[in-house]
Amino acid sequence: MSEEIIVVEGTGVLTGQIRVSGAKNSALKLLAATLLGQGRSVVQNVPLISDIEVMTEVLRVLGATVEREGHQVAVDTSSVDCFETPYELVSKMRASISVLGPLIGRFGRARVAMPGGCQIGARKIDMHLAGLEHLGVEFTVDHGYLEANAPQGLHGAEVMLTFPSVGATENLLMAAVTAEGTTVIDNAAREPEIVDLCNMLNEMGAQITGGGSPSITIQGVPLDKLHPCVHQTVGDRIEAGTFLVGGALTGGPLKVTGIDPSFLRMALLKLREMGCTVETGPGWISVERSGSLRPTEIQTLPHPGFPTDLQAQFMLLAALAEGNSVITENVFENRFMFAAELCRMGANITIEGHHAFVQGVKALQGAPVSSTDLRAGGALVLAGIVAEGRTDVHQIRHIDRGYEDYVGKLSSLGACVKRVTV
Ligand code: UD1
Repeated sequence: MSEEIIVVEGTGVLTGQIRVSGAKNSALKLLAATLLGQGRSVVQNVPLISDIEVMTEVLRVLGATVEREGHQVAVDTSSVDCFETPYELVSKMRASISVLGPLIGRFGRARVAMPGGCQIGARKIDMHLAGLEHLGVEFTVDHGYLEANAPQGLHGAEVMLTFPSVGATENLLMAAVTAEGTTVIDNAAREPEIVDLCNMLNEMGAQITGGGSPSITIQGVPLDKLHPCVHQTVGDRIEAGTFLVGGALTGGPLKVTGIDPSFLRMALLKLREMGCTVETGPGWISVERSGSLRPTEIQTLPHPGFPTDLQAQFMLLAALAEGNSVITENVFENRFMFAAELCRMGANITIEGHHAFVQGVKALQGAPVSSTDLRAGGALVLAGIVAEGRTDVHQIRHIDRGYEDYVGKLSSLGACVKRVTV
């Protein structure tokens, strides 16, 4: 059977300017939120990636009309009459579970296939369910489907999350906008994508304050007070961070635009600590390096801590630093599969529990490698750019899930990288 792979020649070149796409993790939820608007909403700056295709398919299955024109997606949800999301779609993309909140907000019920485990840990949804139960939702599991019902209607409540889960915060927000009374989400996730979602919901007529802080207050409004809107997705901080790591690896200079630098404070701090010159301005960040890479200590944490979605990319940087680094993964179990692939290219990494001990090496060698997940895939292509010789990256469907035209963008920065069917 033929397979498409990415072939990378290790030229060590990545320089110039690139505009990042809209944030995958925002756009997915903004599209789900259109369910609450009951009319034609338009989401702009939506990345052209396969995860978005799955979400538009989910909306179509629910009965919405979805029209895509480049980076703009128009979703008419007025004729949505179904509240069931099938297994084929949820199994393709776990984030399909983010229609649970808006379906409950609109219909007071939902039937969503249970997401299975995935390659980066157990990824449970217990916090989504416990939070929604506080709002009056009852859950049953029936033949692999999660059935949600709010027999008495939704009511506001005080909800304390045991961990600031991004997905649980979003599902709660989208259900609570139509609940009767006031909901307070404490220990809420503070990611920029949460702020983007709160902004869009407010544009639709919701009354949310505190988005981006650990305590979000939602004053419920009747469903018929919500209306469609036109909303622009924020830039993708993880895509930006990935290109910046590329610039740090090669020396750059490399500039990313279309991104608010405040989204990446911790990652930029680490780049500077590792010996890079980083500059920022309104909507842009640049990186450059002339000296050697210095080792680092990184702990992934909920925002504003260091993002787990940049852990693999920074492990690659650490692998080429002069000295020993320690990387601790606190958000997901099982997110170190990338290390084994990088070791096949000559890196020296030992994993102990949720710590990775990285001993810097002078160079990496090109090798056949496999993307173990989306971010690992992105990092392996970068590794190929600075490795000696040729690297073949397999399983690139993971990369296509979240990086728009990765090969095209890297090529425009001077990398020698192409997609090949083998
Ligand atoms: C989102 C992002 C993902 C990012 C992650 C953390 C999307 C589509 N994905 O994922 O790219 O890496 O945030 O920034 O936006 N957990 C539970 N029970 C729950 C919910 C979560 O135990 O009910 C655990 C998870 O297993 C994980 C941790 O909490 O270990 C963080 O998960 P969460 O913040 O919910 O991440 P996602 O929303 O799945």
